[in-house]
Amino acid sequence: MTRLRAKRHIPERMEVCKDLWFASPSANKGHWREVCGFPETSELYLEIGCGKGKFCTETASANPDALYIALERESSVILAAIEKTRELGIGNLFFVNADAKNLLDYFADDEVDRIYLNFSDPWTRKKKPKRRLTYRDFLKVYEKIMVPGGQIRFKTDNTLLFEFSLSEFKECGFTLSEVTRDLHNSEYDKDNVRTEFEQKFAEQGIAIKRCVATSGKQK
Ligand SMILES: C[S@@+](CC[C@H](N)C(=O)[O-])C[C@H]1O[C@@H](n2cnc3c(N)ncnc32)[C@H](O)[C@@H]1O
Repeated sequence: MTRLRAKRHIPERMEVCKDLWFASPSANKGHWREVCGFPETSELYLEIGCGKGKFCTETASANPDALYIALERESSVILAAIEKTRELGIGNLFFVNADAKNLLDYFADDEVDRIYLNFSDPWTRKKKPKRRLTYRDFLKVYEKIMVPGGQIRFKTDNTLLFEFSLSEFKECGFTLSEVTRDLHNSEYDKDNVRTEFEQKFAEQGIAIKRCVATSGKQK
């Protein structure tokens, strides 16, 4: 059978992979590890805006003991990530086709150990900063669902978004580390897994910015 073209037959193709994504993620709130068959002690990592899944599939494959949840709001895009996960037989990566603005419906307080934000839409036009996934209202939500000391690992090509995000992280009480404005020529590139967008930007000679923001939430 010829492979179905992207954006065609999305519901049918999602149905084939239904064991890899959750149609009602709210039902898992506070129980992700149990629902996904992982010990309560496992780390839970969340990628927001996973795109076609290069980063989450490679990262989850390399860390089979951790549970990975990848969130993406575009169904045609997340489908590519889900089908890749199925083809590769990855058992520790699951998906949610939803908007990050509803995260509090899906995750309980202190449920997530780490959040990845890779090449989030920059929303650099005037009056749009509230839509940025590093805007303070989002950071407060991330802090709530993360454990004390939880980390946000953030990468972008966009200088304006990066400088804005550093300022928002600081304003919200996060501690910054591993800050670089040229990741691929830095010491932090050693363990770096490139995303689809990162690969594209690197080929264009655009320097990648990256930081780790650690939550200041107390136990
Ligand atoms: C520029 S792409 C980057 C994709 C991937 N992370 C990468 O680096 O290759 C941003 C992705 O985030 C998704 N996205 C943007 N805002 C979102 C939101 N509020 N909730 C969920 N996904 C979102 C978009 O649909 C898009 O697939």
